[in-house]
Amino acid sequence: MPTGPDEATPMRLRRNTLADQADRHYLYQESVQDTESEIDFVEETWAELRDRPAELLREDFCGTANTACEWVRRDPAHHAIGVDLDAAVLEWGRQNNIAQLDAEQQSRIQLLQENVLETLPELADIVLAMNFSYFLFPTRAAMLDYFRNVYDGLTDDGIFFLDAYGGYDAPREIEEERECDGFTYIWQQASFNPIDSMMDCCIHYEFPDGSRIDKAFTYRWRLWTLPELTELLSEAGFRDVTVYWEGTDEAKNEGNGVYEPADVGDADPGWVCYIVAER
Ligand SMILES: C[S@@+](CC[C@H](N)C(=O)[O-])C[C@H]1O[C@@H](n2cnc3c(N)ncnc32)[C@H](O)[C@@H]1O
Repeated sequence: MPTGPDEATPMRLRRNTLADQADRHYLYQESVQDTESEIDFVEETWAELRDRPAELLREDFCGTANTACEWVRRDPAHHAIGVDLDAAVLEWGRQNNIAQLDAEQQSRIQLLQENVLETLPELADIVLAMNFSYFLFPTRAAMLDYFRNVYDGLTDDGIFFLDAYGGYDAPREIEEERECDGFTYIWQQASFNPIDSMMDCCIHYEFPDGSRIDKAFTYRWRLWTLPELTELLSEAGFRDVTVYWEGTDEAKNEGNGVYEPADVGDADPGWVCYIVAER
């Protein structure tokens, strides 16, 4: 007779370390995403720029559709479409995020396993490309194709929201750690090629028992600059393209979470901003 769960469970199924028990999509959502602040910014900015409420939001590179879920939770008039190439991550989103919505909210969200370069669902009021996912397009031509497809996918007064990052630490081959609830998030800029601006980045997770998920997520992307991106958005047809820069909490000497339209930013080691492109 087995004396405990360890003996009853075949070796290959045993989950001994915290890393073995962890779910990388859950860790990603906890460490990387702040969907409430993101949708706060989107709603406030839309209200400043448009006289009608936005209803349909398309989340490109939606992954687990966490942000799309936040959008439909906010208002019974809100609908969302999430677009991602990866069937497995969409399925995780269905089982873990969409399943937590009530039936009525679930009826207002749709996930499409499609390429953002080609997708053309119902015209959206808002398209989101967040967490720099679109940096994966390595050339001006590919980025322009993407921006044109977003333009074609928006209503006449639609708005495209993107985030971007940079600063003098951005191209450096460095690692940064941040403590999260029950684990450490590690961001590694593993390589940077100054000739084509391509870089390899990884996310690792480490746990209090010393176990680790190495390369939980890896990204190969181009480190784009803001003028390159804003020029391409204009070229794609967007009428007004504005950078929203984060203000400073003078007492703490750090970002205050408030993003305002700006022509001049600070030459910080690391910054994140929003780009708002109006059709
Ligand atoms: C870093 S995740 C983004 C998750 C989430 N949007 C966020 O804000 O954190 C990038 C996602 O983009 C998806 N992806 C990559 N290329 C794509 C493409 N051409 N079309 C659609 N999805 C793509 C990947 O499958 C992955 O789930």
